[in-house]
Amino acid sequence: MKANANLQGILGQPYPFDAVDALKRKAVQKFGEKLIDFGIGDPTDETPAEIRRKCRAAVEGWKSSGYPASIGSIEFRSAVCKWMAKRFGVSLQPDEVVATYGAKYACFHLPSYFVNPNKGEVVLITNPGYPPYTDGTLLAGGTPHYLNLLPENDFLPRFDAIEKRVAEKAKMLFLNSPNSPTGAVYPKKKLKEAVDFCNERGIVLVSDECYNELYFGEKPLSILQIQGADQCAVVLNSLSKRSMMTGYAVGFFASKNPELAKLFAAVTRKSVQGVATFIQEAAAEAWGDEKHTKKMRRVYDKRIDALLPALRHIGCEARKPAGTFYIWARVPEGNTPMLFSGRLLLEAGINTVPGNLISHESGGVNPGGRFVRFAMVQSVERTKEAAGRLMKLE
Ligand SMILES: Cc1ncc(COP(=O)(O)O)c(C=O)c1O
Repeated sequence: MKANANLQGILGQPYPFDAVDALKRKAVQKFGEKLIDFGIGDPTDETPAEIRRKCRAAVEGWKSSGYPASIGSIEFRSAVCKWMAKRFGVSLQPDEVVATYGAKYACFHLPSYFVNPNKGEVVLITNPGYPPYTDGTLLAGGTPHYLNLLPENDFLPRFDAIEKRVAEKAKMLFLNSPNSPTGAVYPKKKLKEAVDFCNERGIVLVSDECYNELYFGEKPLSILQIQGADQCAVVLNSLSKRSMMTGYAVGFFASKNPELAKLFAAVTRKSVQGVATFIQEAAAEAWGDEKHTKKMRRVYDKRIDALLPALRHIGCEARKPAGTFYIWARVPEGNTPMLFSGRLLLEAGINTVPGNLISHESGGVNPGGRFVRFAMVQSVERTKEAAGRLMKLE
């Protein structure tokens, strides 16, 4: 028995976190509970009590469980529409929304809807970026083409630099703003450029907006606020980061293009039983509450401010992110990300993600090749403790 060649292609690539696991195991032996983990972007803060309460009540309310509505209950989809209207002024109808098991699931599967396998069709992916964009593209038999996010371009992609022969073969574009890992928030002009680029070429634009509620300056836009996006864009969003609900695995797909919305709903109906009913109810509650998102923005802001001076002290170039909960720090001269990350782990008991593990070489450049990512998911106290340890590094 052999997996097909496309799947073998994915499996041949290391899972980013596996590559540092051996070192992390050593550090756990050395530091035990004192290890401070800024590795994976998984909030350690509690899911808000009201959301947990809603979930418990929903379990009791559904005494005989029954299959959930696979595209999402009308209550769930209406809650999403209400939130999109309030937050972005975007008018969506429930039949333009589908519940998902979160953004990862959706972005991994979407390339297989649009790419004709093994015909050299291209998916444009910002780089560094979330690995499932690439893995989903490879399983679909597509060719990833990376758009480098570099400091000299404010970590924004350059659509004018895409060669004509690549653009002609492109079927999809993945954008992620606020961006993991760079922390950049795309300005309206860049989003408009992306929309125009896609509409001119019949490209599907997938806008991964799962960090949209984590910002420290101007509020990030949704792609659906941009003129022309109704034609080409798909929004993926999730409660994982917004509401500290990674364990609930719930999000949504939305598109104003009826063909795209129908397509996603049809495949969802054919392929899954749907997000668990009680999770959908808890999620509807979460989309309706802004108090906890406001509070978490203040908390992340404090954590970031607690770590940045120490990073600069040890020679890292790091700017405050405009959005997300990541610090994308350029390692001091003479280091590689693996070396630097390994040193932080074994000497200071601080875990991070070396940037080269979440980025690809493209055009002779690896945009993650000088960076390390810190996910600011530890408490302010632990973050201050980490800052103290950095200051003492030789
Ligand atoms: C850019 C990006 N998209 C999607 C996800 C995953 O979202 P979800 O938990 O909803 O699957 C992550 C998680 O780290 C992410 O960084």
